[in-house]
Amino acid sequence: MNKPLYLSIMEETKDMHEKIDRGKLPAHIAIIMDGNGRWAQQRGEHRVFGHQNGVDSVRETAEAAAELGIRYLTLYAFSTENWNRPREEINALMHLLVITINNEIKTLNDNNIRLRAMGNLHCLDKKVKEELNEALEKTSHNTRMDLVLALSYSGRWEIVEAAKSIAIQVKEEKLSVDKINEKLFSSYMNLPDIPDPELLIRTSGEFRISNFLMWQTAYTELYFTQKLWPDFRKNDLYEAIVDFQQRERRFGKTSEQIINCKG
Ligand code: FPP
Repeated sequence: MNKPLYLSIMEETKDMHEKIDRGKLPAHIAIIMDGNGRWAQQRGEHRVFGHQNGVDSVRETAEAAAELGIRYLTLYAFSTENWNRPREEINALMHLLVITINNEIKTLNDNNIRLRAMGNLHCLDKKVKEELNEALEKTSHNTRMDLVLALSYSGRWEIVEAAKSIAIQVKEEKLSVDKINEKLFSSYMNLPDIPDPELLIRTSGEFRISNFLMWQTAYTELYFTQKLWPDFRKNDLYEAIVDFQQRERRFGKTSEQIINCKG
């Protein structure tokens, strides 16, 4: 007799989980959650149905990351370019954000997870800003994992903002031009205390960065999966981590140098 599907999935998840090397976990994982619209359309539903189901994947992924001991998880929840979508879809997404953030505060606190946000947050609808600020405040003491939502965010916007702030400092003679280097530039990013992501996952079979963390992903390992975001489950996160752990991160050095360093 064939094994029930849920049993096979549970076994696969357990197998993949066991393959993870706990000593080589990425501290920071970033995710471009893509494919919600297509997932809904494949089912003859409105795109918003895909976003609603995407929330389950957010929950599963955050839970799996926290259980593993990932210190930072950054999710691309709404890009600057997403403001160009039909108003109806934007409103639905904003509404979903309000509800989800509100519903999850208790779970975040129970699990010692701190919610953080990056992006041009002034642009968000009033209600979203209120809910978000409340959740940021109420979870600010948590220390196990930082769950970062990129909202009204784009990498180029963030770099331009940093350049503007630096220019003002120079103009006001608070900073000299020869002090500007990569380290200083990084300190002008939205969340400068968070290390660059070691692993960036994008779902839905698209092979692009789409203006996400343009500065921070200079040396990030990229992982692409065909899975549409609403289908993304714990096992998919485990698979991405196992794949990441099999890679050699050279940062411009040769393979031999890396092996010698390992001693
Ligand atoms: C991309 O799919 C997804 C988004 C623009 C929004 C992601 C939002 C959620 C998963 C829901 C809320 C999230 C949080 C953090 C509470 P798409 O619409 O571009 O899909 P498509 O490429 O198939 O059109």
